[in-house]
Order: sequence, then C-alpha cells, then structure tokens
Amino acid sequence: MPSPPTFRDFDEARRAARAFLPRALFDYIDRGTEGERALAALREGFDARRVVPRILRPVSAPDLSTRSFQAARPSPFVIAPTALAGLVRFDGEVLAARAACAARVPITISTQSSTAIEAIAEGAPGAELWFQLYVWRDRAETWSLLERVARCGVDTLLLTVDTPASPKKVHNSRNGFGIPLKPSLRLGADLARHPRWTAGVMGRYLLRRGGLPTYAHYPPGAARSVASAIGDGRFALDMVLDEPFVRELRRRWKGRLILKGVLAASDAAQAFALGCDGVVVSSHGGRNHDSAVRPLEMLPRIREAVGPSVTLLADSGVRRGSDAAKLLAAGADLVLLGRAPLYGLAAGGQAGVAAMLNQLTEELRGFLAFSGAPNLAELRSCEWIG
Ligand SMILES: Cc1cc2nc3c(=O)[nH]c(=O)nc-3n(C[C@H](O)[C@H](O)[C@H](O)COP(=O)(O)O)c2cc1C
Repeated sequence: MPSPPTFRDFDEARRAARAFLPRALFDYIDRGTEGERALAALREGFDARRVVPRILRPVSAPDLSTRSFQAARPSPFVIAPTALAGLVRFDGEVLAARAACAARVPITISTQSSTAIEAIAEGAPGAELWFQLYVWRDRAETWSLLERVARCGVDTLLLTVDTPASPKKVHNSRNGFGIPLKPSLRLGADLARHPRWTAGVMGRYLLRRGGLPTYAHYPPGAARSVASAIGDGRFALDMVLDEPFVRELRRRWKGRLILKGVLAASDAAQAFALGCDGVVVSSHGGRNHDSAVRPLEMLPRIREAVGPSVTLLADSGVRRGSDAAKLLAAGADLVLLGRAPLYGLAAGGQAGVAAMLNQLTEELRGFLAFSGAPNLAELRSCEWIG
C-alpha cells in the first residue's frame, strides 16, 4: 500500500518523489531540455509577477467554480497528459483518474500512457477522461484509436502540436532512460538504490502483469514494453503536423477538439478558424523548446487576438495556487497540471494526487482572499505588477 501523503506543498511532494523514484525516472519527469532555460524562465516569470492586495472588501469564501465547455466545475484545474504515468506507481493512471474523479477535475490520458483508455475508464468509473493524441504515421490506425477513445465516452481530444522534433535531453541518455530502455550497470544501481519503487512498482508489474508496462494504446503486436523499441514503423509518431491534418481530424472527431502547445497569437486564431474548441497555451512544461516564450507572457496577446468568448487553457510550471491565479488573470479559463499530480502520485498514490489537487485548490483560494477577489473572474480586475 502506498504510504499516506505526508507532504504539505509541491516542494515537499517533489522531495518525496525524488526519494521514491529511480533517478532516471525522476529526471525524466522533473527536468527540462538542453540548458533548461525554458524551465527556469517559467519559475522566474511567475515569481516576477505580483499583485496589489486590497483591503476592506471582505472576501470570506472565494468562489473557485468555473463554467467551461458547458460544464460547471468546482475548480479550474485539469490533469495534463503525461506519458508513462503508470511507471510512477503500479496502476498509476487509474489511481490518478480516481483522485481526479473525486475532485471533479478532468484528467487527460496520453497516447503514450501505460494503461489503455478502456482500462482507465473501467477502473475509474465516473471520471471525466480527456484524451491526448500523438498521431501515428499510419492514419487508419490513428483513426481507429480515436474510435476506441470515443467508445469510452471521451468527448474532449487534445492534439499536441508543439513537438516537431525530439527534444535534446542529455540527462535521459546519461541515465540510460529512453525507449528502448537499455539495461546498464548505472540503471541497475539506480534500481537497487530505490527498493520501494523497484519492488512496489516494477515488481508488481512483473508479478501481476507478467512484464514491464507497455505503451498501452499500441495494438497487439506493436505494443511493446518500455524495454523495447516500437518496431513497427506504422506506429512511429508523426510529429510534423499541418493544417490539412487538423481539418481532417476536425471532420472525423465529433467531440471537442483542443490544440495543445500554442504560444503565438496568430496560431491560436488559426486554431479557432479551423474549428477547434480551445487551445492550450503551453511550453510543454519547459520540456521541448529551450528558447520558447512563457505562456504567462503570451496569454494576454492570445486572449486579445481570439476574443473573450472562446476557451483558453494554459499550463507549464504551475507549482502553487498563486501560479494558477496568474495564468487565470492573464487570460486562461482552465489550468493544466503536469508534474504536480505526478509528484502527488509518487508521494502517496491516489491519496497523494487527491492531496496535491486539494493543496493547490486551497492555495488558490487563499490567493483570492489576500487579493480581494471574490471569484476567478475578478482576478483579471486585480492590479498586477511585473
Ligand atoms: C513526465 C511527463 C510526460 C509528459 N508527456 C506528455 C504527453 O505524452 N503528451 C503531451 O501532450 N504532453 C506531455 N507532457 C507535457 C504535459 O502535458 C504538460 O504540458 C506539462 O507537464 C505542464 O507543465 P508542468 O509539468 O510544469 O505542470 C508531459 C510532461 C511530463 C512532466
């Protein structure tokens, strides 16, 4: 059984995750790309933005509820897609989906998840599952994946558009973490130094599932464990996407379509012109383009370009409720969380994800109270410096 969460905030959860996870896996989750400047810039951007607190306008119970995509939600949070989240804990994606369900927060399942969407839907009944698409070279296989997704009742699809090349991540190659996962002395020593993970996660997969976790959405035959390469070229990822592809996807996918990884105002406008229902303003958590601008600084321009009525989501670098408040004030309607729920999961399983969602929500509530904002919309009327 995972130990109950003992962390009080993101930093403590991150420390617990670092102690629990093999170094190779922790670095894969935690770190950025190249010189990790984009990652550092995210933190600097949030820290530099400050709000002028107001007094004598009592806000005793700030209202965090929001209406987006025709649904009322108790908070503006959404769990972002993260590949291989099932490596963090045994059945990690199901545990995270259950915690999200209890908090009435949508959770986005990655194409690269280690549990298939059907199993997550079955294991977490009632969860609001969204799906993130990486496009396979074989389009017919891509469309049939989307049929499976739709059959699970998923109505919101995020198409990730911000990864046209493989980011350079020196730590992954140094640690021996990659697909395929290559056995090495270094990796062996890493596993030996983290026996709770090696027995409790890897061991349970070996005992109960008969092998290492797979990329679960790949069809039988192409579905390989993390220890082997994707041998079948039809399932290689088609990372360079164009407008005709989005048009075709729009025609085929009957649900809501959101482009993930937009930073330019004109690209956001183009997405809505193509019939998308939303965009995620994101620098992929500082994991892709090391010179990319920050969502926080682009959101106001994007909001101005697309108008007040469409839905903007944002992510990258949210560690505190105050970070979320800053994205919301800058123009976002919903905020995605990537590493935060993963660290909650590492630190305490399902209860850890629940604790992380709750802590961020309460931090956000406190931020509103200190700022004299009775609800999320009023954050935009606050006076911001920096
Ligand atoms: C370990 C990890 C795996 C990720 N895998 C995916 C993925 O499969 N698809 C995707 O669109 N984004 C992926 N992302 C990016 C997240 O969806 C999100 O944009 C980012 O993590 C937000 O930044 P944050 O981690 O600082 O909250 C991943 C992020 C992490 C940390």
